[in-house]
Amino acid sequence: MLPRCLQVDPLAPQPEIIALAADLLRQGELVAFPTETVYGLGANALSSVAVQKIFAAKGRPSHNPLIVHVADVHQARLATSDWTAMAEQLATAFWPGPLTLVLPKRANICAEVTAGGATVALRVPDHPVALALLAAAELPIAAPSANRSNRISPTRARHVMDDLAVHVPLVLDAGPAERGLESTVLDLSGQRPRVLRPGPITAEQLSTVLGQEVLHAATHGETIAAAPLLSPGMLRRHYAPHTPLELIEAGDTKPIQQLLASGQRAGWITSDSAALAAPREKLIIKRLPPEAAGYGAGLYAALHELDVAGVSRIFVTEPPQGPAWRAVQDRLRRAAAPRE
Ligand code: TXA
Ligand code: MG
Repeated sequence: MLPRCLQVDPLAPQPEIIALAADLLRQGELVAFPTETVYGLGANALSSVAVQKIFAAKGRPSHNPLIVHVADVHQARLATSDWTAMAEQLATAFWPGPLTLVLPKRANICAEVTAGGATVALRVPDHPVALALLAAAELPIAAPSANRSNRISPTRARHVMDDLAVHVPLVLDAGPAERGLESTVLDLSGQRPRVLRPGPITAEQLSTVLGQEVLHAATHGETIAAAPLLSPGMLRRHYAPHTPLELIEAGDTKPIQQLLASGQRAGWITSDSAALAAPREKLIIKRLPPEAAGYGAGLYAALHELDVAGVSRIFVTEPPQGPAWRAVQDRLRRAAAPRE
């Protein structure tokens, strides 16, 4: 079965397309839809049968929990047994937006969504199409990124079609995702708030709103043996292209030159303007903006394009360090991690 891919106006989604998508969701079908971070693969979070289809389509292990998308704080409260003061503060500051809050779950959210766990991850996406869909479906929608498990998240409908087409009856295409990196996942179910996955909202921004320090559960490179599946985004190799990816120091193009000299083709992602004299068919260069938001927005599309370009290796010039770059750094390190 080939999916339908329907163009939808990103700012003023056509009501008939939203109604069609909402009907499919209510019938227990999958719908891929845009959010401000990446495209999501949605299913009714109250239905085990519907949610199982997500795991099957993605090839995702059933012990990896899914994010539940809700229309607003009211719907979020219906999904958790403990809407805390911190949750209220953060929702007021950052929702709709790229922040996912992990809270104690309520019984109505099916066990498949939370991988049998006692907590549920909730967010209100900041995208008119996603919000219209949530309002029309009148359901909490479980939606991981719409890619095969461990692959690069889709920031274009095209990526969803390339990766998941056979499994999804409807893909809503609203153009490129604005943020391009997955939401920050913040655990509010423990003693202290902890970032499980760095994302567009930084720990520093969260600390400012909460008036207390917010720590990261694990930084890249650290092993997390104590809690291996706390958050699958914390697996060492994740978000990875098929093509081997190598991080190189800023200003050092030697590894690229060596590969080219051996007759192979290379891809290069960089935000500096340094040039390399090489024929275009040998070296494909993707230039990303030198600031973190623009870089994050373009990174996955660049990886997707280089991954299908038939190069032997994707080189990525090390981006800067610092809080704003943390999510980018995290994804690049995971993408560069050796296959296990
Ligand atoms: O930006 C995003 O978050 C995108 C869009 C579609 O909303 N979604 C996304 O979903 O990235 P996914 O499934 O690819 O990543 C969900 C992350 C995983 O790292 C997962 O472990 C974590 O959220 N997560 C989900 N439920 C959790 C829970 N109850 N406790 C801890 N982590 C949880
Ligand atoms: Mg994902």
